[in-house]
Amino acid sequence: MYAGVMKDKSSVNRLVLENVSHSYGAVAVLNHLSLVVNPGEIVVLVGPSGCGKTTILNLLSGHIEPMSGSIQREGVIRTVYQHDGLFPWLTVLENISIGLRSLKDATQREKELRELLELIHLEGFEHHYPHQLSGGMKQRVELARVLAGDSDILLMDEPFSALDYQTRLRMRHELVRLLKERPRTVVFVTHDIEEAAQLADRVLVLSNRPATISHELQINAQRPRDLTDNAVIEAMTAILKELGLQTSDRNDV
Ligand SMILES: Nc1ncnc2c1ncn2[C@@H]1O[C@H](COP(=O)(O)OP(=O)(O)OP(=O)(O)O)[C@@H](O)[C@H]1O
Ligand SMILES: [Mg+2]
Repeated sequence: MYAGVMKDKSSVNRLVLENVSHSYGAVAVLNHLSLVVNPGEIVVLVGPSGCGKTTILNLLSGHIEPMSGSIQREGVIRTVYQHDGLFPWLTVLENISIGLRSLKDATQREKELRELLELIHLEGFEHHYPHQLSGGMKQRVELARVLAGDSDILLMDEPFSALDYQTRLRMRHELVRLLKERPRTVVFVTHDIEEAAQLADRVLVLSNRPATISHELQINAQRPRDLTDNAVIEAMTAILKELGLQTSDRNDV
């Protein structure tokens, strides 16, 4: 199992978006959005397709600059992209190794690599290239890549969406376990409300574009959480309600 380096929550960094606006041409995506993610907190963003979730992650990572407003970030940020973040010319092992460059001890590096491969169940595929893997396998490599080595902040854009249901559940539990061992500040985007309810300290429900935070839900239950836990069921019910997806909210039934 992947032991990693123990880290104290107080040493993990926070993220701040203050009054941020962003547009692509005439398309206003964010309009004076403010958001604080506390050290070691897992914040999950849910909201309609095209509302600006990936844009928020790109602003947090510094991949794009906001048109106005300010962003505070410190520490090492790793991102799981919504679509293919792997280097196509590198093998599975080489892609994962990128996060371990600072680890000088070759034996330790090899050990971590083996543990990460075991975690994502891709032993035997280490010398394959991304184009030789299925979508789900690629996403598992992505997860190992961001978890390898030390980082402070994880930005995760629908990291498990291409996985089959069982693998998705397993990866979710592995992520919870790894974050207990190696706390990081996490912003996680998903369309899966079950995932949001199992993972989040706080769920931010976003409105249609330009995205505003239409609802904020604090989930104070300990992790790991079972799908049948009251806290999870209550959170799912609340999120469905906010998204207008409860049966009682629909007019067509
Ligand atoms: N590079 C870009 N150039 C122009 N428009 C863009 C660009 N990136 C995103 N947009 C537009 O900005 C809006 C928000 O896109 P974004 O990718 O942030 O949405 P999202 O909430 O992540 O959606 P999804 O849930 O489908 O991934 C969309 O209308 C999209 O068309
Ligand atoms: Mg997106």
